[in-house]
Amino acid sequence: MLKLPGLIDPHIHVREPGQTHKEDWDSATQAALAGGVTMILAMPNTKPPIFDNSTLDLALSAAKGKARCDYAQFLGAGPDNADIAASLAPKAAGLKMYLDSTFGELRLDDMTLWTPHFEKFPKDFPIVLHSESRTMAAGILFAAIYDRPVHIAHVSLKEEILLIKAAKEKGIKVTCEVCPHHLFLTLPPPLPSPIFGENGGGLGGGRAEVRPHLATKEDVEALWQNMDVIDCFATDHAPHTLAEKDSENPPPGFPGLETLLPLLLTAVDDGRLTLDDIIQKSVINPRKIFHLPEQPETWIEVDESAEYEIKAENQFTRCGWTPFEGWKVKGKVRKVVLRGKTAFEDGKILAEQGYGRDVRVQEME
Ligand code: DOR
Ligand code: ZN
Repeated sequence: MLKLPGLIDPHIHVREPGQTHKEDWDSATQAALAGGVTMILAMPNTKPPIFDNSTLDLALSAAKGKARCDYAQFLGAGPDNADIAASLAPKAAGLKMYLDSTFGELRLDDMTLWTPHFEKFPKDFPIVLHSESRTMAAGILFAAIYDRPVHIAHVSLKEEILLIKAAKEKGIKVTCEVCPHHLFLTLPPPLPSPIFGENGGGLGGGRAEVRPHLATKEDVEALWQNMDVIDCFATDHAPHTLAEKDSENPPPGFPGLETLLPLLLTAVDDGRLTLDDIIQKSVINPRKIFHLPEQPETWIEVDESAEYEIKAENQFTRCGWTPFEGWKVKGKVRKVVLRGKTAFEDGKILAEQGYGRDVRVQEME
């Protein structure tokens, strides 16, 4: 049995408040624990979006009652909330700015609306950017001009990873994350995956919709070749129901919490990654970048040799599907211990609702 620290996923969509038919703080944190993830950072594009005191309270009070793993909640950057977001920074995971096509209402197209956030949000917390291609280049220029850290969410393109590499070499404060789906899937029609072979087939139509889009084989290879430029793995767990994904107007997004570690461990088995890569990019770096506390007496136990097929019916996420259905993976989470308590064991969630802690709240003990 392999013992690893509890993983941190810095990018997930809980869907509560507002869209709990897709997911809520209970089901999302069950999915996290089943995936070996003991801390999640939740994105603000809920209904309503999280952008001020009262909406932050809405999300945090739902989380307080229901979360089974530890968490923090992002604030969203809107057209006129730079002062209030800056004042709420200590209670939040950080600030998320949506600068490109996404799900929900939080999109800032006009660059003049970026400036107050770059000026005012405390510099010791990164601003997370949903910014693709040339928008990402603009975001990195803002980081250089305002001399503050930015974290680029879900990097998917060769041109992006190469520009981030160059920016880091210049000393610009930029970090980045990559999602498993951008490492293991290519543009529809899916090509055979280098690791999973024909496994990669069968994902099409609305089910393949995700932002950023799945990219070409060349892009995917560039991500693997620049693994040392990637600071974090993040799932961008974005649950939408199967009925929604198969509808006329499919929303973009994949669930990912329960497939993250098996996919990465299969890549380790294949010699493409090391266990140290997983620990650095799923524990050490997210903790450093987002100033997250250590979780004492927290670990996961993994059966490295267990081979099985990924099946939606075995998942805890409420959305009812996975883009990796039927993929053969190696490595199964057997047990999760969170702050001294067994939170998951042999397929059963044991942590209760409300056991999860808001990591931005100082505990008085
Ligand atoms: O695919 C995506 N889904 N990309 C986003 O930017 C948002 C996310 C969601 O919330 O569903
Ligand atoms: Zn996202």
